[in-house]
Amino acid sequence: MSQVNCAIIGFGYWGPNLVRNFAAAADCHVHTVADLSPERLAAATRLYPGLHTSTDIDAVIHDTAIDCVVIATPVFTHFDLAKKALNAGKHVLLEKPMTDTVAHAEELIELAIRHGKTLMVDHTFLYTPSVRKIKALIEEGSIGKFKYFDSTRINLGLIQQDVNVLWDLAPHDISILDFLEPTLPISVNATGVSHIHNGIENIAYLSVNYQHDFMAHFNCSWSSPLKIRMMLVGGDHKMVVFNDMEPTEKIKIYDTAHSVRTPEEKQRILVDYRVGDVYIPKLEGGEALAGMAKDFIQSIMTGKEPVASYRSGLNTVKILEAAQHSIKQQGKEIKL
Ligand SMILES: NC(=O)c1ccc[n+]([C@@H]2O[C@H](COP(=O)([O-])OP(=O)(O)OC[C@H]3O[C@@H](n4cnc5c(N)ncnc54)[C@H](O)[C@@H]3O)[C@@H](O)[C@H]2O)c1
Repeated sequence: MSQVNCAIIGFGYWGPNLVRNFAAAADCHVHTVADLSPERLAAATRLYPGLHTSTDIDAVIHDTAIDCVVIATPVFTHFDLAKKALNAGKHVLLEKPMTDTVAHAEELIELAIRHGKTLMVDHTFLYTPSVRKIKALIEEGSIGKFKYFDSTRINLGLIQQDVNVLWDLAPHDISILDFLEPTLPISVNATGVSHIHNGIENIAYLSVNYQHDFMAHFNCSWSSPLKIRMMLVGGDHKMVVFNDMEPTEKIKIYDTAHSVRTPEEKQRILVDYRVGDVYIPKLEGGEALAGMAKDFIQSIMTGKEPVASYRSGLNTVKILEAAQHSIKQQGKEIKL
């Protein structure tokens, strides 16, 4: 295959970013943009005169000229569209979160394996220079033993009607955790509150627990006038702060740590603090979505596993679904 013909379904808020990046990707041709809304398709042709568009989603999915389908529609539609596309022999890229239930994600994975097709999820952050730098720091051992992950993603957000704030905001951070920490978590605890009293939580806190002495925590809110996009990635030698609100200096590495000693007298524990420099590494440039589009196209052409594979999609949905159960049971520990 020398070129991949791609259909992009959903041209709402996020779809235009996908069309722009797939149109610029090597070995890729955006064959069709599809949406149920003729107004959205008119907007697409204003941006890309000559672009083929359609409101007949089934016809697009079954078009034999199309090799892959990119799905950027609301999450509750992901499963049906992706299932049809995989059954029609297409490779599929799903927007995050992959599906609205674990059972749906598992069924899609089974279909992709059966048909030998690439199934990937747009976990965009895995392609950012910041997250790739943090991954490299962990792998080369320079932060020491990876001990905690703490993420805050809060602002005055658009309150969704169908999913709570964790399903809306946490997929990015959970997928980053899944990318950075090689072991899988064992359980979650989550609490949340719905100030609109419709059962859709607008503030939520999630803890993800592991077998070993590592833990992850997520704070998500649609109700904060202060916008924070911050992540702490801590090891026993260094801590990395990823502040996505910073235009350029997104990553700071604190060469500061503490160690615990148990002296002769067993009942006393001593904590030593080491204060060091703060270092701001230079990050590579490039748009994350361009890297994501390239990975999808190359995975289709070579059969390799993409970075944001269906495993990452499934692991993320497992945590979100368990968190939802935990919230409804006032923070009860839910095993994964
Ligand atoms: N990766 C990211 O950083 C990122 C950012 C924003 C949104 N998203 C994800 O992108 C997806 C879409 O979000 P959005 O904010 O663009 O939503 P949106 O509501 O703005 O747009 C969705 C579009 O899909 C169309 N649509 C709805 N149902 C359809 C169907 N069955 N068939 C065809 N078209 C249909 C709608 O007409 C609309 O134009 C969601 O999964 C969301 O989580 C990802």
